Amino acid sequence: MGRQLTISCFRYNPNIPGDKPRMQDYKLEEYEGMTLFVALNDIREKLDPTLMFDFVCRAAICGSCAMLINGRPRLACKTMTRTLPSRFTVMPLPVFKLIGDLSVDTGTWFRDLQVRAEAWIHTNKKFDFNALEVRMDNKIAEDIYDPEQCIECGCCVANCITANIRPDFIGSTGINRLYRFLIDPRDERTDAEYYEVIGNEDGTFGCVGLMACDDMCPKEIPLQENLAYVRRKMAAAGLKLTFQGVKIS
Ligand code: FES
Repeated sequence: MGRQLTISCFRYNPNIPGDKPRMQDYKLEEYEGMTLFVALNDIREKLDPTLMFDFVCRAAICGSCAMLINGRPRLACKTMTRTLPSRFTVMPLPVFKLIGDLSVDTGTWFRDLQVRAEAWIHTNKKFDFNALEVRMDNKIAEDIYDPEQCIECGCCVANCITANIRPDFIGSTGINRLYRFLIDPRDERTDAEYYEVIGNEDGTFGCVGLMACDDMCPKEIPLQENLAYVRRKMAAAGLKLTFQGVKIS
């Protein structure tokens, strides 16, 4: 017989007129190998079909099931209940728009980020359908692979003090995204052009260096290392622009 778990879930559906935010307790028996994702599904199947939460892959790949588990942003599908006390809380991620209960809209936030950060390869080369693929150096490909591991779950954003108080901050996930293009030799942007995009308080200089993002990344991306690289580049680009007499807004 497993432990009796009490899962205290945040409940609030902004689409129901008059609904009020509250915590609701659910009790269920734990079993071997149970993840929080499985526990929430059990609640929805056996106790309360109205409980809202997101998931797609169940394998820490899609990033949908991120939530505050006992106050810390984590993936429900990657969290074993045996690592939690018998009573714990689950709440939706802060920063993102609440859809209902534990479900938040990370999609709009990340889409906006991709556009603001211009997160695509910028090149003047004409695309040739008939050209053979150019082989990339293995080391560069591996370096790019690391930041590409981001699953856009939002855990780093939710754990970031700056992102919690400044809605326009692109967060370490945004800076990590730009890092990925900065180290890609196919992207022809100059450092000054990157500076235009993230050389400001909403970009790389908005981070106060508490490293909470790094602590919470479920894919263990070295966010702080990547941020430090981008920040060094942008500081140098800013100085260069200043000495060239370019007015920096
Ligand atoms: S369900 Fe996809 S990351 Fe958890």
